[in-house]
Amino acid sequence: MLEIKNLYAQVGNNLILKGINLNIKDGEVVILMGPNGGGKTTLLHTIMGMPKYKIIDGQILFNEIDITNLSPDERAKLGIGIMFQKPPYIRGVNLKELASIIPGHKDNKVIEENAEAIDMKDYLEREVNFGFSGGELKRSEVFQLLCQDPKLILLDEPESGVDIENISLIGKNLNKLLGKEEKIKNRVKSGIIVTHTGYILDYINANKGFILIDGKIVCEGTPNDILEEVRKYGYRRCQQCK
Ligand SMILES: Nc1ncnc2c1ncn2[C@@H]1O[C@H](COP(=O)(O)OP(=O)(O)OP(=O)(O)O)[C@@H](O)[C@H]1O
Ligand SMILES: [Mg+2]
Repeated sequence: MLEIKNLYAQVGNNLILKGINLNIKDGEVVILMGPNGGGKTTLLHTIMGMPKYKIIDGQILFNEIDITNLSPDERAKLGIGIMFQKPPYIRGVNLKELASIIPGHKDNKVIEENAEAIDMKDYLEREVNFGFSGGELKRSEVFQLLCQDPKLILLDEPESGVDIENISLIGKNLNKLLGKEEKIKNRVKSGIIVTHTGYILDYINANKGFILIDGKIVCEGTPNDILEEVRKYGYRRCQQCK
């Protein structure tokens, strides 16, 4: 589904991604770990095509289409969705209005059902993300993803700042969104989950894990191996693999 070839990207004047190669198959969900400032958010934003992130070299293919130079809305229409680490707010637009213009227009019934599923019914008339608490922001992001129903789902720290009960609610909804309730052979959705703690893995069964340091992927393994390495040694030993 996703093929990233030798990707170099910069933000401002800083070169952040330094030769990323990453392939994600249909139905595959991977976790991405790494120290603060290593480039995880930059990678997800670059895949989404956010304008601040400039591709210097390399290529991104989505279902064999070269999306390297497409705008975020074109990528969203193709089926890529993102849950931001720090979601922006939008004054003057309420959550229901936003949901109704998300690609693959949803009728009111589906919007209400999605809001119910992620406990956001009381927020539909509120301005998008404005004044939302940390946990509410994350639920708002999941709600928007439920309405978009993308094929490739980019999740930037979905559990950070979320209370235990809401981690469970978010985890279950994301699991469904990622098609994990389908029969194995029918699973076609893919995801990249950035996590510092791995708590989200209590709800979502990931297939692989990667460690990103200083703009490079330095390690690949099973999610459990990656998590164990980071829990036991931090990123000390990974630094040696740079
Ligand atoms: N506009 C900018 N100008 C210069 N540098 C920037 C800009 N935006 C981000 N950066 C830098 O890019 C680097 C990578 O940031 P990024 O947000 O991708 O890290 P991360 O791996 O997601 O970290 P965290 O775990 O803390 O979320 C950081 O050093 C950050 O300061
Ligand atoms: Mg980040």
